[in-house]
Amino acid sequence: MKIQAINGFKDILPDGIGRWRHIERKARDIFERFGMQEIRLPILEKTELFVRSIGEATDVVEKEMYTFADKGITMRPEATASIMRAFIEHGLHVQEPVQRLYTIGPMFRHERPQKGRLRQFHQLDAEIIGAVEPRIDAELIAMGQMLLDELGLSVSLELNSLGCPICRPPFKTRLIVFLEEQVDALCEDCRRRTHTNPLRVLDCKKTACRAVVQGAPSLLDVLCPDCDSHFAQVRAALEELRIPFAINRFMVRGLDYYTRTTFEFLTTDLGAQAAVGAGGRYDGLIEQLGGPPLSGIGFAMGLERLTLLLDRQQGSDTVPVRSMDVFVAPLGDDSLAPCSRLAHCLRSLGAKAAIEYGGRSLKAQLKQANRVNARFVLIVGEDEWTRGEAILRNMQTQEQQPFALTGSPEEQAQRLVDMLHGQAV
Ligand code: HAM
Repeated sequence: MKIQAINGFKDILPDGIGRWRHIERKARDIFERFGMQEIRLPILEKTELFVRSIGEATDVVEKEMYTFADKGITMRPEATASIMRAFIEHGLHVQEPVQRLYTIGPMFRHERPQKGRLRQFHQLDAEIIGAVEPRIDAELIAMGQMLLDELGLSVSLELNSLGCPICRPPFKTRLIVFLEEQVDALCEDCRRRTHTNPLRVLDCKKTACRAVVQGAPSLLDVLCPDCDSHFAQVRAALEELRIPFAINRFMVRGLDYYTRTTFEFLTTDLGAQAAVGAGGRYDGLIEQLGGPPLSGIGFAMGLERLTLLLDRQQGSDTVPVRSMDVFVAPLGDDSLAPCSRLAHCLRSLGAKAAIEYGGRSLKAQLKQANRVNARFVLIVGEDEWTRGEAILRNMQTQEQQPFALTGSPEEQAQRLVDMLHGQAV
């Protein structure tokens, strides 16, 4: 029986890798323009880290984590908690009070797989730790928007404030009273959530629940003066940076650590999986995990969703990956050994070289050269070999010119590399 990949776990094949690398390169470039530094973290962490940060009553912790129960460890479902753990463990704030960190890698959640929703998925995650100014929120959101813009993706940005431990608890109490009055109209999940995690009801996608929450009280109306002013300044700073956004008072996010600013980059092009990226502020989190009382804000974007969106909005083969400089095509047994030396020398001089060993026809080899996007083909037929002069074919212009097989393979390779760099052969 053939062994296949696990449901929700996907191979990323060479055909599609160009898009991944394109997005990753762009992300690194833009993040570094904003002074971010890369951090790489383990995939396994103590389960307690996620329970304490993401929250016990969240879907992620309640039912989506891949946990080795006997060992007390979990495959990370997201990166923020791990970054905070590393930040605290290494006392990074001592070196520099404001840390700007990003990471790129796989995350694991046992969700029902769908288009754009996997069990192993990949995130670009960026965090700014140690700064509370509203302009930081705007700067971070603007960085996410810049990445999407430079990828040529069109998405919408929604913004909300989730308040703080001063204004959110009384709001929750009000919300519970409201939801209890409407209990008959709520779905089964939301009836349960009314008491475990009432804010999540605001975010339920079921039609009946959506109708109920239209009449629900809004946290934005009862923010404490500090949160209200912070949110007003974030909005003003976004306007200054010319970043368009819409307020969505029903946005609550699925992770418990958020305070104040939350945001989502949304698309209608990926069916039910509307969020391409999302994030927010988490001002109490670091302290709650045993670290200093520092605030933070960050976001994560899903790489699978970004690649799907690139396909949808930009067409599928926008980014070819493989392109070879020289394809060496030996046409007889005699030239095989020197050609293989030549290809090796080309590679050690930094050129991308391909070679065929199978004794295939010229036609077949040219076809293969096209397949690997070769710029030049060096044709070394029996006659050419005896004459000491190969044919160099420019695959773009179809022009052919003689190439003298004089000197050692190293010297020949050097002449070819000089030519690739724009010098005459
Ligand atoms: P999140 O909203 O859970 O936030 O995930 C962020 C993004 O990861 C989503 O918008 C989506 O693009 C992608 N994503 C999530 N789950 C899946 C999945 N099962 N399959 C494919 N893509 C998925 C966080 O993870 C927070 N840590 C973001 C953050 C960083 N907040 C502050 N800093």
